[in-house]
Amino acid sequence: MPVLTATKKRATKKAPTKKASKKLKATKPSKNNVKPKLYASLVVQLLSLLKGEHDFIANAANFSALLFSSLPNVNWAGFYLLKDDELVLGPFQGNPACARIPMGKGVCGVAAKRVETIIVPNVHEFPGHIACDVASNSEIVVPLFDGERLIGVLDLDSPEIGRFDDQDAEGLNELVTVFVAHEERLGL
Ligand code: SME
Repeated sequence: MPVLTATKKRATKKAPTKKASKKLKATKPSKNNVKPKLYASLVVQLLSLLKGEHDFIANAANFSALLFSSLPNVNWAGFYLLKDDELVLGPFQGNPACARIPMGKGVCGVAAKRVETIIVPNVHEFPGHIACDVASNSEIVVPLFDGERLIGVLDLDSPEIGRFDDQDAEGLNELVTVFVAHEERLGL
């Protein structure tokens, strides 16, 4: 099992294979549709939470609460925001976490430095992983951009090994894109 899986910052859908197309035609919904459907519903809920609100901290706090309360097997969900070339803890849900992460350190710092989404199936195999909660076994970190400028990362932890996959990467990238686009419209 790879220690680290880096995905492109904008995850792309793979063309369905013949086998996958057959599955899509089945009467019973395929298990493969569960995550995309959940993320599609989260986009609608996020837009509703953001509607009319102009405060970045309030919106980021509600966004992290939405993820924490809606995604199964997640024990931490929140933001680290880039300030003076360092990641500083932002709104989150879960146990108290380290306040500052240098660029290039831990999963968050590596994702920020590479400006890439990183999926870590087993955090105990990731060199330099920063353990904030002993319950965490897997992690995904998604960078946040204001245009081309990195403004921080979204970090999710799970007690389940291999909890996050490409569908999570795609869904979370879509959510952060919706989130940042809303903030941009409000003049962040
Ligand atoms: N595990 C992260 C640190 C942040 S906590 O998971 C909330 C990392 O290695 O960067």
